[in-house]
Amino acid sequence: MDSSGAKSFIEGEYRGHGHGAYPTISDFAYLETLTFSLSPKGFIVYSQATTNPETGAPMHQERGYLRLGESMEAEFVIAQPTGVAEISTGPAREGEGALLFDLHSTGLITSPTAKPVDAIRRRYRFTRQGLDYEMWMAIPGVELTVHLSASLSRQGS
Ligand code: HEM
Repeated sequence: MDSSGAKSFIEGEYRGHGHGAYPTISDFAYLETLTFSLSPKGFIVYSQATTNPETGAPMHQERGYLRLGESMEAEFVIAQPTGVAEISTGPAREGEGALLFDLHSTGLITSPTAKPVDAIRRRYRFTRQGLDYEMWMAIPGVELTVHLSASLSRQGS
């Protein structure tokens, strides 16, 4: 698969349940909608929104761009309303009918009032049916540890 085939494979809307955890907080559940759409210039526009599955109250959101060049090196550029600006990079590769990304933060800036975040790792597994992912983070005093994992279904397929 070349980069334009990969972009078409990724494009779509995904919905499902996620599980959150971290050593400093109580476990929690969330409902999530992720969309990856193609911009007129061929960049992937990323949009994420989550809600509390019991109350419907909004939880975390983020927006960004997934840049994928001919070399299949991915560069994820993400802004979070919690005051985090993230660049995570890593290779995209194919395996067993899936497209896999393993991205590590290479640039992470937090705004003056944001909670500090030292590192992020995101692993995505896209298939024709959906998307599974895990997100790890490190904060002061806590090494890279899973914060989120979700299994989402591709909509309209
Ligand atoms: C890359 C994305 C995310 C980052 C960088 C992030 C970062 C953090 C940080 C730094 C904390 C505080 C931990 C502490 O001080 O002990 C936290 C807590 C929390 N996160 Fe996330 N988070 C992300 C995504 C999410 C998502 C998607 C959800 C829910 C759907 C979520 C829900 C929570 C909750 C409920 C807490 C505990 C209460 C709180 O501190 O607000 N997070 N997160």
